[in-house]
Amino acid sequence: MTEPAKRGLFISFEGPEGCGKTTQIRLLHERLVGAAHRVLITREPGGTAIGDEIRQLLQFSPAGRAMKPETELLLFTASRAQLVREVIAPALDSGVTVIADRFLDSTTVYQGVARKIDNGAVALINGFAVSSLLPDITFILDVDVDLSQKRVLGRPKAAGFPDRMEQQPRAFYERVRAGYLSLAASDARMRLVDASKPVAEVEARIWTHLHGFFDGNGL
Ligand code: TMP
Repeated sequence: MTEPAKRGLFISFEGPEGCGKTTQIRLLHERLVGAAHRVLITREPGGTAIGDEIRQLLQFSPAGRAMKPETELLLFTASRAQLVREVIAPALDSGVTVIADRFLDSTTVYQGVARKIDNGAVALINGFAVSSLLPDITFILDVDVDLSQKRVLGRPKAAGFPDRMEQQPRAFYERVRAGYLSLAASDARMRLVDASKPVAEVEARIWTHLHGFFDGNGL
């Protein structure tokens, strides 16, 4: 009889726009895949056929301009509910390491703190959507609002730039940063990383928190 696969590690990355999540996720992916690990990257909102349609509505559709904060909360969490059941949980069950580019903490911070929706309501809806599946470890990449905005403006412009979530007043992004800092201090799952440092330094810092999970496993 074959042994059931050991459950995969679930890692999430969080932080404001321009914090360097995408780069750090790519580097971690390369490191793990180079050591023959099976790894899956997810990105929110989206990642399923349903989620990709929701992403369109949330970020790019002209209809989104009239969106109320409560609707936004339900759409982000609806996209995640599908992603968890269709992609993340099956991958973890089959032993794949999952690296999530945003997960429920984005909703806590963006819709709860920055959009000022009641914390209790956000926690309830968040919990329902993920059905108690939480990351094993969450990296919060911290940059201040000036650096975040400088990096976003310096990026090659993707189609649809700036999207709806990138057109908020500065005070919104100040609340996002404060929300992440307070989350980092309140939950043992969180690792706060100073992402204003050079890429290689941030990568090394992240790996100090992760290598223990992969010890003796080709890394
Ligand atoms: P990103 O491609 O920079 O990660 O953009 C995703 C945008 O969506 C970003 O502005 C954060 C926002 N967002 C929320 O407001 N709530 C959520 O739950 C998620 C996953 C993302």
